[in-house]
Amino acid sequence: MKILIIGGSGTIGKKVSKHFSKKHEVIVAARKSGDVAVDMTDSRSIEAMFESVGNVDAVVCIAGEAKWAAFDAMTEEDFYIGLKSKLMGQVNMVRIGQKYLNDGGSFTLSTGILADHPVAFTTSAAMVNGGIHSFVKAASLELKNDIRINVVSSGVVEDAVEKYEAYFPGHNPIPMKKVINGYVKSVEGKGTGEIIRMYDNC
Ligand SMILES: NC(=O)c1ccc[n+]([C@@H]2O[C@H](COP(=O)([O-])OP(=O)(O)OC[C@H]3O[C@@H](n4cnc5c(N)ncnc54)[C@H](OP(=O)(O)O)[C@@H]3O)[C@@H](O)[C@H]2O)c1
Repeated sequence: MKILIIGGSGTIGKKVSKHFSKKHEVIVAARKSGDVAVDMTDSRSIEAMFESVGNVDAVVCIAGEAKWAAFDAMTEEDFYIGLKSKLMGQVNMVRIGQKYLNDGGSFTLSTGILADHPVAFTTSAAMVNGGIHSFVKAASLELKNDIRINVVSSGVVEDAVEKYEAYFPGHNPIPMKKVINGYVKSVEGKGTGEIIRMYDNC
């Protein structure tokens, strides 16, 4: 398979890219590193990325930001960071990318545990994750040519514990192998419209 991984240079993305590279052709996209440049907050940049890469069998997005801050300190503009990057960035990846996916191909998006189990300072990140879950279920009903779409929702991964542990007291870090398997299930499996949750019901 020819697999395009947006965010394939990040904490999760580099492990997922390394795994898929063993069996597939992997193209990594990001703003500052990788094989092709893209800024997912800009539709023209997404279109240019697909034009340069051409048709693919799978698009995996492991990128997207949102502002983490106390709710009473969040401005309207702060919320737009997550809406423009993690939410609409991923929606536009699918909206534009559907023209470049081979028949039977797949989209895999990324969210996180906050959609189901938010913690303090995550009104924006939790909201955006929940929106993507609803988008994936709805888009799966309409994508043509047997194209599938799923989303991997992980808890804090082992490789990011230092960055996030203060926000998640008592959270059990998710082994990288388990997270990788979420992406494998989506790309190499047959399911569609699935929210692949990689955490216990905590
Ligand atoms: N880490 C966790 O424990 C965890 C758990 C659940 C969900 N998630 C979610 O999974 C995703 C990846 O997390 P991570 O920890 O691997 O993040 P990370 O280490 O910060 O990596 C982010 C990746 O996305 C790229 N990127 C960021 N903004 C971009 C943009 N506007 N356009 C294109 N590429 C962009 C980055 O490369 P450039 O900077 O070069 O663009 C990098 O490759 C995030 O959406 C995060 O919320 C993370």
